[in-house]
Amino acid sequence: MRLIFLGPPGAGKGTLAVTAVEILGVPQISTGAMFRAAASAGTPLGLKARAIMESGSLVDDETTIGLAKERLAQEDARAGYILDGFPRTIAQAEALAGFSAVDKVVNFELPDSVVLERLGGRRVCSSCGFNYHALFNKPKFDGSCDRCGGKVLIRDDDLPEAIQKRLEVYRSQTAPLIDFYRKAGLLVDIDASGPADEVVRNFRSALGL
Ligand code: AP5
Repeated sequence: MRLIFLGPPGAGKGTLAVTAVEILGVPQISTGAMFRAAASAGTPLGLKARAIMESGSLVDDETTIGLAKERLAQEDARAGYILDGFPRTIAQAEALAGFSAVDKVVNFELPDSVVLERLGGRRVCSSCGFNYHALFNKPKFDGSCDRCGGKVLIRDDDLPEAIQKRLEVYRSQTAPLIDFYRKAGLLVDIDASGPADEVVRNFRSALGL
């Protein structure tokens, strides 16, 4: 199955994707994670993306489309994928339609107040990227990842000014994709406001899994 996860920053796309990958047996492809990996590796792409991400803006369409196209061409994505964070603009969605046919677009619905609570408390393993939350999902040992023992930190773009900017960017550039995919008959809405296990149940039921 080829899915897009669409929703505001902090909606829980990455968190649900971890379970959805197990259910569907397809890879999660996160352009944000790819940019963060490039930034950690200090590649020219990563250095360019780091400054943009920290400000809360979007990396340019041409770079992002090239990255996604290359990743989708890899063997493990042939049978399906979960696109988490791509496309994020109409130009990206139109480009994607030219190189891959999507089955469904899962639209995460939740109020801004919940988004702010989730982003404000997010903690991330600096080594494997696994997500935690200061209130809802703490690591067993403070500051240390349950999975790999890496340091659990606040993401660079989870500072208050960058959060506000990301929400503005979402509303102006990404939210128009809801109508774009609804008109294409691909959109499936899920209530993403509840606890993680409830969101998994909503996802399963929306897709008949
Ligand atoms: P990206 O990494 O994609 O960030 P994002 O869309 O802002 O999404 P997030 O990772 O912030 O949130 P999420 O929905 O995955 O929520 P999560 O599961 O972590 O992109 C980062 C940057 O890269 C962009 O700003 C941009 O600069 C660049 N970029 C990436 N893709 C791009 C593109 N296509 N075009 C251009 N630029 C691009 O959950 C959040 C928190 O809530 C966690 O703490 C989690 O534990 C908690 N939580 C999750 N679900 C629940 C729940 N149900 N109940 C309680 N807590 C929950």
